[in-house]
Order: sequence, then structure tokens, then C-alpha cells
Amino acid sequence: MTGTRALSKFWMLTNDFTQNPFPVLEYVRRESPVRELSMPGGGRAWVVTRYEDAKAALADPRLSRDIHVHFRLMSERSGRLLTPPAEEANHLANVEPPRHTPLRRAISFAFTPRRAEALRPKVEQIADELLDALVAGPVPDLITGYADPLPVITIAELMGVPASAWPDFLRWSAALRNYSPTDGSGVLDANIQELSSFMAELIARKEREGGEDLLSALIHAAPERRLTPTEILSTGFALMTGGNDTTASLVGGVISALLTHPAQRAELLASPARWGKSMDELIRYVSPISNALQRVTTEPVELGGVTIPSGEVVIISVMSTNRDEEQFPDHPDRLDLDRHKPAHLSFGFGIHYCSGAHMAKVITEIAARRLFERFPDVRLAVDPAELRYQQNVVVRPLEALPVFL
Ligand code: HEM
Repeated sequence: MTGTRALSKFWMLTNDFTQNPFPVLEYVRRESPVRELSMPGGGRAWVVTRYEDAKAALADPRLSRDIHVHFRLMSERSGRLLTPPAEEANHLANVEPPRHTPLRRAISFAFTPRRAEALRPKVEQIADELLDALVAGPVPDLITGYADPLPVITIAELMGVPASAWPDFLRWSAALRNYSPTDGSGVLDANIQELSSFMAELIARKEREGGEDLLSALIHAAPERRLTPTEILSTGFALMTGGNDTTASLVGGVISALLTHPAQRAELLASPARWGKSMDELIRYVSPISNALQRVTTEPVELGGVTIPSGEVVIISVMSTNRDEEQFPDHPDRLDLDRHKPAHLSFGFGIHYCSGAHMAKVITEIAARRLFERFPDVRLAVDPAELRYQQNVVVRPLEALPVFL
């Protein structure tokens, strides 16, 4: 068992934690479920690890996701005058009510499970084309060749971006991956500026011409739900920043889990109707979100018996909640497709609950199903113990997933 003294003050930010966080989180849940963490640049955060505390935190309006609240705290801590986040980052994921309410209403109305379901044939086609390209390579890597591009192209398709712009979209999305709106540089990388101009032109064109896609639905919404062009642009950024890396991390994680759990993989392939029912357990087990979700306290808040002062960063460890033995008493570390109610928090909880949850499930199901249907003998090209996770504070992608197809 890991002892208290074995945990460094940066305990959640070490490479050992990244590679296998679950034993440490199990210890923290038991011994100090709301625990301090030192930040490398100075200052501290509080990590919430138990399921019930996490749900309470995510439902508490005194814990803010507002990007400007975060930004002010970062400015105070650094003691420098930083440039505020760009307009594109002012989207629904980064604001709180009352600003959040109309943005959320607009997207909830336009981005329905039905719209996600309608994309199934297109997602299958994109998945198949990516698999065709992988067959041609030497040792195919399912991260760079499959899990990474599939969500980017699907979200581009969802927004009505023409296929001719997909190569640019892949480049722009790679730049978005490294963009931090609260780092205080205020500078948009040239790639992100190109993306922003492209989106502004696309929105203007859809305003004139209409279309069947999500952007057109937002633009031509009923007057009481209509957003301004700037709000639609930032909503587009929310879809990309919220959907690309998260879904890539989930797709890679689910495929790797099924490559290392042959019995569960066989069960799914034998009865395809089980994919939909098993998806929540796969998402709980894989937990594609790492050290997120982050909030800042705007008043003192008591969580799990600990009073967190005002103006502090709180990290809600979804990874930990998904393995909480109080919530999942029956072997939480096991992938059990028959688990009763795998009510995980991987898509968050409360007003910021993931807008793309249904779309993400569709993409992940198709990605895994098409791979295993087309290549029934697919197997890892390395020992499972050699698989490495990328060091990333938000998501939990594998560095590579090399396979023999
Ligand atoms: C097509 C893919 C996806 C899209 C378009 C998408 C989009 C979004 C958007 C727009 C929000 C902000 C909602 C709001 O603030 O009201 C959000 C929140 C969130 N998404 Fe997604 N998402 C996708 C996939 C995923 C995946 C695969 C995961 C992880 C399993 C995920 C986890 C979350 C979480 C945890 C939040 C809440 C964040 C918080 O409360 O701090 N998303 N998503």
C-alpha cells in the first residue's frame, strides 16, 4: 500500500501517477478524500476524489468554471498583468449563469441525440477510410492514424465543414490541443487565427445559404434561441475543444481495453446490440478525463468535511470517482459489461454536463466496432505493460497503440 509520506506534494502531476493513477487515488479516497496538491508554478489546488463529494461540487454554484474568474486568480498568483483570454474562449464551457443559460439552451435544442444518430453512416465511412489508410502503413498506430483524426473529422462534418477543408481542420485542431486560454499570453497561434477566420466565413456563408448541419441549425434558430455570430463562433470552438481530445482519448482507451479483455470483446462482437448498453461501463472503466474538472471557489466551501477557502482552485477527479468503491461496490477496478448502473461522472454533472455525450458514444462505438469487425484478429504489437499514457492535465490519451491488423 502507498503510505502518506510516499506521496509527493505534486502527487497528481507525476509520471508514475499518469501511468497508473488508480492505486494512488484509492489510497487518497480512503485517507484524505479532499486533499491538497502543490502546483508547479506556485500555489495549490484541492483535489476532490469521492463520488458523492464530486457530485456536490459540480452542482454547487459557489464553484465557478468562469474563465475570467480563473484568469483573475492566475494573474494574482503570478503578480503580473496578463492578457485576458481571446473572444473565442468565451464559450458556454467557460461561463456561468446567467451568461451560460442562453448559450446552453441554444446548443441543447440544436445538438440533439437524433442529430448525432443521423451521423452514424458518415462516421462509419470516415472510420473505414482511416482504417483503409492504416492497412497501407508498416505497423499501424491506432492513436495517430485512427483515434486522433476520427473525432476531428466527425465534428467538422457535424458543423458542416466541407471535406476539402478537413486537412486544414486536422492541422488547426492539433494547434488547439496546445492552446491554454488562461496562460495569460492572450496570443492566438497563427493556426488558431486561421481557424477563427475560416469559421467566421463559414458562419457568414451558412447565414446566407442555410444547410442541414449544426452551425446552420444554430444560425437559423427561432428568435428566442438565436445567438450572435460571435457566440456561434465561440460555440464552434467549444465543440472542437470539448470534443476532439476527449473523444480521441476515449476511443483509444476503449480499443485498448477491448484488446486486453478478449472475453468482453468476444461478447460484444457476438451480439452487436450490446455495444450501446455497454458503452457507459466502458467509459467508466476507461475514464478518458485525467486531472480535470477544474473550478475556483467564489466563497468558502465545505466538501467532504474540509473547508476550502474562497479563491482556491478545486480539481474534481473524475477518474477517482469512477472507481469509488462506495458507488461501485462490486470490484470497481474490473471491466464488467453486466454492471448494474455504471453511472459514471466522465461526462460531468450539473449545468455543464457534456453537450456531446451522445455524439461521443456514437463515435466510440463505431470506431471500436468497425475495427474489430473488419480485423477480427487484430492484436497489440507490444506487450500491454509497454503502453504509455501521455502526460496531460485534462485528458488521458495513450502515446501510441501499435497493432498487427
Ligand atoms: C463529440 C464529442 C464531444 C463534444 C462535441 C463535446 C462538447 C462539450 C461541450 C460543448 C461542453 C460544455 C457544456 C457546458 O459547459 O454547458 C462539454 C462539457 C464536458 N464534456 Fe464534452 N464533448 C464531447 C465529448 C466528450 C467526451 C468523450 C468526454 C469524456 C468522456 C467529455 C467530457 C465532458 C465533461 C466532463 C464536460 C463538463 C466539464 C466540466 O463540468 O468542467 N466530452 N462537452
